[in-house]
Amino acid sequence: MLDADTSLPHSPTSGQPTSSGAPSTLLSEQAPEQRRRLVTEIPGPRSRELAARKAGAVASGVGTMLPVYVERAGGGIVVDVDGNHLVDLGSGIAVTNVGNAAPAVVDGVREQVGRFTHTCFMITPYQGYVEVCEALNRLTPGDHEKRSALFNSGAEAVENAVKIARHATGRDAVVAFDHAYHGRTNLTMAMTAKSMPYKSGFGPFAGEIYRAPMSYPFRDTAAGVDVDGPAAAARAIATIESQVGAGNTACVVIEPIQGEGGFVVPAPGFLPALAQWCRQNGVLFVADEIQTGFARTGDLFACEHEGVVPDLITTAKGIAGGLPLAAVTGRAEVMDAVHAGGLGGTYGGNPVACAAALGAIATVEEQDLAGAARRIGDVALPLLRELAAENPAIGDVRGRGAMLAIEIVQPGTTLPHQQEAARISAACHRQGVVTLTCGTWGNVLRLLPPLVIGEDLLRDGLSVLADAVRAGLPG
Ligand SMILES: Cc1ncc(COP(=O)(O)O)c(C=O)c1O
Repeated sequence: MLDADTSLPHSPTSGQPTSSGAPSTLLSEQAPEQRRRLVTEIPGPRSRELAARKAGAVASGVGTMLPVYVERAGGGIVVDVDGNHLVDLGSGIAVTNVGNAAPAVVDGVREQVGRFTHTCFMITPYQGYVEVCEALNRLTPGDHEKRSALFNSGAEAVENAVKIARHATGRDAVVAFDHAYHGRTNLTMAMTAKSMPYKSGFGPFAGEIYRAPMSYPFRDTAAGVDVDGPAAAARAIATIESQVGAGNTACVVIEPIQGEGGFVVPAPGFLPALAQWCRQNGVLFVADEIQTGFARTGDLFACEHEGVVPDLITTAKGIAGGLPLAAVTGRAEVMDAVHAGGLGGTYGGNPVACAAALGAIATVEEQDLAGAARRIGDVALPLLRELAAENPAIGDVRGRGAMLAIEIVQPGTTLPHQQEAARISAACHRQGVVTLTCGTWGNVLRLLPPLVIGEDLLRDGLSVLADAVRAGLPG
């Protein structure tokens, strides 16, 4: 067990305050019991019934990875319509960092929705929007003067970061990286690396997007390429200088730890070297912290691990506890370079989403969820490494804080093994643990638990994962 002063909370069995008298990190009156419990097969009959209705009603391009239909969720548990309690190791793709239906989010939303739901900030503004921007300016890396603008989705934030960077620099070219994921709109599809399922058949894509090699220590080692961070940065910079030209480049957009591309943690020194080259060449360094932000990796933002201060930072997902909100935050002189009316949108910074964000941000700060993310890593990483030591199908264990992954390979090689990753994930699902896969080759199993998950629930989910991995061992 962990030392008492560093341990994660033990999962209360209900949403009541913990025995210490401290307010529960979980929930409201609807809080599900924080224990995995299966009462039907997965998916159960009511979920299957809804899946059949989905097939007749929802466009088939909108896939579902684990078709259990949700009735409620809270803390580290998702309850389906059949009454199954599943351990949530996905947080709706890194969104519910504060847990589902977190009290401060619920309270903020309830209060706001009873007063007004929309006016459009560009028409008649409101305080919540300003407060979220103030919080972002205060919390994002760097103590320079900042400004923020709010949008609805991560992709929209990335689009706007590019608009702002182009406007501020007067340059066109945008550099993204191998394995990058930035969204599904036309511009962000162009920036996203992986073809299937994100891009295939959806072109032509936006122009002036260029791709540079990423630092991917596991695969760089396998390829005999220099894994040293500064050397990997030099490789990327050489590509940019020769194929784009520093003087044509408006911005370099990078996820400090890549998300959908495989939870790729670049080698130490890669990000600082890249940021320094940007500074020296008048290129804006844009950190896409849509998946890594809001305490997920053990600091509020992943850039902080290496002291990198981005010119612009995009956030979404964990910002608002599940309500749609996204932001671009950056240097005041860059953000304010855009003419009045040049940024916005009907719903951007919706008042209900802003109320949720203020609740989520307060929760992250007051409950030190960055510390909680580090402790999740302290519990999970040794277990994953132990599992890797005994199982040659795990080629790499990586990640930071509560953003962790195992990369599945053909045993004894570094060849990606997508089917085995899918098998492990499906076995977890059958046992009531929500796991996700990712990666350019779909062979990475990723863990993104809510940061309020109790230690026993986390360990239970990890032991199900370990059993699923071991079931694939030959003999
Ligand atoms: C790093 C990153 N950028 C951008 C996006 C796009 O966000 P959204 O799905 O909200 O448009 C995502 C979503 O997964 C992401 O992980």
